[in-house]
Amino acid sequence: MSTKTKTQVAIIGAGPAGLMLGHLLHNAGIDTVIVEKKNRQYIEERIRAGVLEQGTVNAMVDSGVGDRLLTEGLENENIDIRFSGTSHRLNFRELAGGRTVWVYAQHEVVKDLVAARLGYDAPTFFEATGVGIHGLQSDSPSISFSGEAGDHVIDCDFVAGCDGFHGISRGMIPEDILRIYDREYPFAWMGVLAEVPPASNEIIYAYHERGFALQSMRGHDLSRLYVQCPVTDTVDDWPDERFWSEYRARIAARDSALQREGPILQKGVTGMRSFVCEPMQYGRLLLAGDSAHIVPPTGAKGLNMAIGDVQIMTRALAAYYRANDGELIEKYSDTCLNRVWQVQRFASMLCYNLHRFPEHNQFEHKMQVAELNNITHSRQMMRSFAENFTGLPVELFYDLA
Ligand code: FAD
Ligand code: DHB
Repeated sequence: MSTKTKTQVAIIGAGPAGLMLGHLLHNAGIDTVIVEKKNRQYIEERIRAGVLEQGTVNAMVDSGVGDRLLTEGLENENIDIRFSGTSHRLNFRELAGGRTVWVYAQHEVVKDLVAARLGYDAPTFFEATGVGIHGLQSDSPSISFSGEAGDHVIDCDFVAGCDGFHGISRGMIPEDILRIYDREYPFAWMGVLAEVPPASNEIIYAYHERGFALQSMRGHDLSRLYVQCPVTDTVDDWPDERFWSEYRARIAARDSALQREGPILQKGVTGMRSFVCEPMQYGRLLLAGDSAHIVPPTGAKGLNMAIGDVQIMTRALAAYYRANDGELIEKYSDTCLNRVWQVQRFASMLCYNLHRFPEHNQFEHKMQVAELNNITHSRQMMRSFAENFTGLPVELFYDLA
C-alpha cells in the first residue's frame, strides 16, 4: 500500500536548483515536496562550486537565506587574468556598474537552504529510491518513490526536474522531441583545498604554456587551487610536491607574490563538458540546472545557471497560481535557453582561451594570447567580461523569449 498525498509542485533533487526553487516557491505561498536520493549529510558535504554571481547573492539575501553568506562569504571586487608572465586586473565594481561576485562554497548554500526548509517544516524526503514520474501530459501528474516509511505517491500540478546531470527527469522527454548539444574537452582540472592563505584576495585565471591554473579561496586561510591536467589523471598522479611545483610555475607573474605552500586537505579531479538539452520542458515537467545543461567550470557558472533557471520558473509558477496565467510557463524553456546559451558562449570562450589543447599548434597559441590581450585591454571587452562574470540579469531574457 502506498501513502498518497498531494502538493502543487513536486521537486526531484535537493541540489542548489531544487532547494532554491522550494525556498522561492515557499515565499510565494506555493506548496512543494522535495524528493532526494541521497541523505542530508551527503548533500551538505558535497564539495563543488564556489563563486556566486551578484544575481545569485541578491536572490539569497532578498529571499531571507543570505545572512551567513554576507558574514562568512568573501566579496571579490577584482579578477586577475595572467598570461605571458604578466598580471591584468579587472575591477568588477567599476566595469559592471557596481556588481561583484562572492566566494561562498556551494555546500554552504545547500546547508543554508536545507536549514530554512526544515525550519518551516516543508516536506522533504531524503534517501528516496525508485523515483518515478507519471502522467506528464495530463493536468495531474504524479511522482512515486520508496522512502524510510514505505512507498509514496504524490499527486501534483507540476514536476520540477532538478535532479542533476545523471537524474531521471530529462529522460522523460521523448527522444523525438529532445535535442542534445554537447562537447567534451580533452583535459580536466586537478583541484586542491590547501590550509594556507591565498597569495592575494582575488580569483586568478592563469594561461601558461604548461596549462591553465586557477586561484580561488574558501576563507582568509584556505586556498582553493586548480591546475589543468590530462583527463586520464587521478589524484594518485598528483603527489603534493608535484602539485605545488606545477601550480607555482603556472600562476607566477612579474611583481606578484608567490603562493606559499601548505598542507593539502583535499584533492579531486573534475572532467569538463558543455551540454544543453532542448527543450527544458515537456507537458507538466520543467527542468532546471544540471539536469538540462552543463558548462565547463571556467567562468564558474554551473550553480549560478541553476539559480537563474529557478528564478525564472518561480516567476512563471507564481503567475500561474496568482492569476491563472500560463503564458510564462509556456515560455519557460525559451526564456531559460536564451540565457543558457549566453552563459555557454562565455564559459566556452574562456575555456577555449585559457587552456592548452593537445592538438593546438603555435598559431592557435598566438590566437589565444591575442584574445586574452583583447579581453584585458579593450574597454568594451573588459566591460563585457565583467558583465558576464558577475552574471547577466535574469530580467534581460524575458523580452527575448
Ligand atoms: P546537483 O547539484 O547535481 O543536484 C541534483 C540533486 O538531485 C542531487 O542532490 C542528486 O543526488 C539528486 N538526484 C539525482 N537523481 C535523483 C533521482 N533520481 N531522484 C531524486 N534525487 C536525485 N560549477 C562551477 O561553477 N564551479 C565549479 O568549480 C564547479 N565544480 C564542480 C565540481 C563537480 C565535481 C561537479 C559535479 C560540479 C561542479 N560544478 C561547478 C557545477 C555545479 O556544482 C552544478 O552546476 C550545480 O551543482 C548544479 O545544481 P543542480 O541543483 O542543478 O544539480
Ligand atoms: C572556483 C571554481 C571555478 O570553476 C571557477 O571558475 C572559479 C572559482 C572555486 O571553486 O572557487
